[in-house]
Amino acid sequence: MRLLVTAGPTREYLDDVRYLSNASSGRMGYAIVEAALAQGWEVVLISGPVDLSPPVGCEFHSVMTTAQMREEAVRLFPDCDGVIAAAAVCDYKPKERIQGKMSKVGGPVTIEMIETDDVLAELGQCKDHRWVVGFALEAQNPRENALQKLRRKNCDWIVLNSPEAIGSDSNTVEFIAAGGETVGHWSGTKTNVARSLIEWLSQQLSAD
Ligand code: CTP
Repeated sequence: MRLLVTAGPTREYLDDVRYLSNASSGRMGYAIVEAALAQGWEVVLISGPVDLSPPVGCEFHSVMTTAQMREEAVRLFPDCDGVIAAAAVCDYKPKERIQGKMSKVGGPVTIEMIETDDVLAELGQCKDHRWVVGFALEAQNPRENALQKLRRKNCDWIVLNSPEAIGSDSNTVEFIAAGGETVGHWSGTKTNVARSLIEWLSQQLSAD
């Protein structure tokens, strides 16, 4: 099994020194990489900027922006059997990146933002025989939104979690299949949740 994992946040630059991002630590994605390596899988990790060392044994690709994550993911996915998209990708980016450093203007500024590429949706579209696991971070109507996301992004399964997961050591997740049924409910450290997820996938995929 050769697994692609996206992890960590992305950054979208306003100018050469300022960026928009989020508080994702990358811990969930990195725990998934560790668990998959322990299962004997080959793992390709595409990671945004985090304070973690790449797990020993994985193939590591470092990125900053969503566009870079997309480019690497589209390039590396064809050689993999499946993807787990744990990255907390920025949804918007400034329409224009200012060269150098933006100066103060003496009053409020308005920054026009446009949507970034949806990495997972693009992988879902071109997956063919490959399997796709997405994450859904939901504050309201969690199950309904997660299911919509699963379908919109053509995932086989989706891991539903809540904003409390961001930056935390632990997580509580519901694992939902394409038909809408809950096939796993795991809670605990991100290491333990990642192990449960990889064990479940390993059993399921070897049974296919
Ligand atoms: N994702 C992605 N590229 C994006 C946005 C999200 O690959 N530009 C992936 C995430 O890695 C995750 C899944 O899509 O696996 C869902 O991410 P989430 O932030 O929950 O949802 P969004 O699609 O961003 O939608 P919204 O923020 O409106 O809930």
